Amino acid sequence: EKIEIFAPATVANLSCGFDVLGCCLDSIGDTMIVRKNQINEIRITKITGQDLPTDPLQNVAGVAVYALLKELGSQQGFDIEIHKKIKPGSGIGSSAASSAGAVFAVNKLLDEPFKPVDLVRFAMTGEMLASGNAHADNVAPAILGGFSLVRSYEPFEVLSLPVPGDLRVVVLHPQIEIKTRDSRSIIKQNISLKSAINQWGNLAAFISALYTNDYELIGRSLKDEIIEPVRSILIPYFDDLNGVAMDKGALGFGISGSGPSVFALCKGEEKARDVKQALSNFFSTKDIAFDIHSSTIN
Ligand code: HSE
Repeated sequence: EKIEIFAPATVANLSCGFDVLGCCLDSIGDTMIVRKNQINEIRITKITGQDLPTDPLQNVAGVAVYALLKELGSQQGFDIEIHKKIKPGSGIGSSAASSAGAVFAVNKLLDEPFKPVDLVRFAMTGEMLASGNAHADNVAPAILGGFSLVRSYEPFEVLSLPVPGDLRVVVLHPQIEIKTRDSRSIIKQNISLKSAINQWGNLAAFISALYTNDYELIGRSLKDEIIEPVRSILIPYFDDLNGVAMDKGALGFGISGSGPSVFALCKGEEKARDVKQALSNFFSTKDIAFDIHSSTIN
């Protein structure tokens, strides 16, 4: 018995929702093949595309599957193959794709003892291993699709949000590696009441805009005065890229997850193509390799 799945990339935070908001990209992702085995062991049998640990206790996919099987009280073994297209440290949920994909596949092979929202908790153990923090803003949209909002971590509650049909995401990945663990360590632990007011206003407005298909409001709400000023320093040409995307008519621009990838939200396929082209033209003149994608949210 085996299953082959697409494990999608995700954009976390979306500027206004640090650690609570994320969305699922449907054109970028890894492939995973998971089989039941008869030896009651979790094995990472193959990894292509990246050099990652095959010890299941050191691999986010293995750890997430252990968490699922432990709660189920099952001894079933699985062989997991991971074909990585998403680079670790790119800011588009590489570890999340592997842990979310693994628990999704294993749950299917076990005839779905868990609901998708329950799988998010297991996949979060992979994020803990990868970054030292069990955030859900990549794994939740990777499993549930579309936009996800974490209302609360304790007790854990996650909601799915609607996706306005014309929304497109352009993601530019400068090929430097920023570890989430490192880019979390530089964030301020305390913020002012004034910043908090601005931030929750923007997050609430963003959510409202998803329900009302208000693209202009989506753009106005994509703000981050807490994390972005600190993290953007690590991202080459961040301000220039922001300017290029906004000049071309992007709705908003920001850091994807913990970076170095950046994202622009756009209304419509054509606008996304223009913004992608402009960002690509700009970055081609710099001496840092990059890749760039345009995707729907699904
Ligand atoms: N919310 C997390 C962070 C996402 O920004 O650190 C990491 O991809």
